[in-house]
Amino acid sequence: MSCARSVSHVTIIGGGLMGSGITQVAAQTGHRVTLVDLDQNILDGATARITKSLARVAKKKFGDDADGAKAFMDTTMGSISTATDACSVVKDTDLVIEAIVENMAVKHRLFKELDSVAPQSVIFTSNTSSLSIAEIAEVTSRKDRFGGLHFFNPVPVMKLLEVVKTADTSAETLSALTAFGKKLGKVTVECSDTPGFIVNRLLVPNLAEAIKMLERGVASAQDIDTAMKLGAGHPMGPLQLADYVGLDTCCFILDGWSEKYPDVELFKTPESLKKLVSEGKLGNKTGEGFYKH
Ligand code: 3HC
Repeated sequence: MSCARSVSHVTIIGGGLMGSGITQVAAQTGHRVTLVDLDQNILDGATARITKSLARVAKKKFGDDADGAKAFMDTTMGSISTATDACSVVKDTDLVIEAIVENMAVKHRLFKELDSVAPQSVIFTSNTSSLSIAEIAEVTSRKDRFGGLHFFNPVPVMKLLEVVKTADTSAETLSALTAFGKKLGKVTVECSDTPGFIVNRLLVPNLAEAIKMLERGVASAQDIDTAMKLGAGHPMGPLQLADYVGLDTCCFILDGWSEKYPDVELFKTPESLKKLVSEGKLGNKTGEGFYKH
């Protein structure tokens, strides 16, 4: 087996909120990054989102120093390229971070294809929020060079990165991923490949409990959120955070867990959550969820 190279070029697959956030942070911290998505419109949207978010970072970092801010923006944006064909990109990369749709069959198709063209030294990772890393890795011939890198939204602001290991992830891969995470400026925690890893396993049932509390009429959405902000010191209340994460994402995670663990009451998807999702009310991204945005 070849040794993992240190990461200089990163390929990020999926131009959604997470993929663009990861792209930004990797570029900001001196990596060359290629962001890949099948859809050019999504890539254009991601570039606009990164530019906007980077401007906030530049403002914070450089204040009134307009030249410094411009140089920072130019250098960072200059180290990002985009592509629609992942296979051509992974022929010359060190690390792949997948942040596409949470669908095992789609992830399998992607990784099987990438595995056949990427050099053996390339490390593959997934940013999945709830699927099993080992199951995703199953279709590849590099299970020892496969792990999870789980980022948090908004990626440029949240300091944590969960580094997830399966039974097959090698010590070299784990240390390369941890070193990469530190280079991104994140605090890393190591975690086994279990549903929700650390944060989502504790956070998502908490959001679901808040939704069930609202359903029981215990308190209004505003009062539940105010209570958790001022009584528990959380930056956002649980219903506000559910809207922020995306109600479809919350629903998908809970549906998957309750299918796998039907006896765990905590994992049951609240009816009102299912209803909002079926109505296309997905939270901040669609303008309405538990709140109007
Ligand atoms: N890009 C760059 N900077 C950003 C940013 C972005 N997208 N969003 C916010 N910021 C910066 C702002 O510039 C600001 O910087 P400053 O304090 O130096 O001026 C700082 O972050 C705070 O932003 P705001 O003043 O706009 O707003 P808030 O103080 O209300 O903070 C928040 C916003 C950081 C989102 C905060 O409310 C928060 O931490 N909320 C909880 C988020 C959370 O829990 N995320 C995890 C969700 S779970 C997840 O992602 C896992 C997945 O698998 C489901």
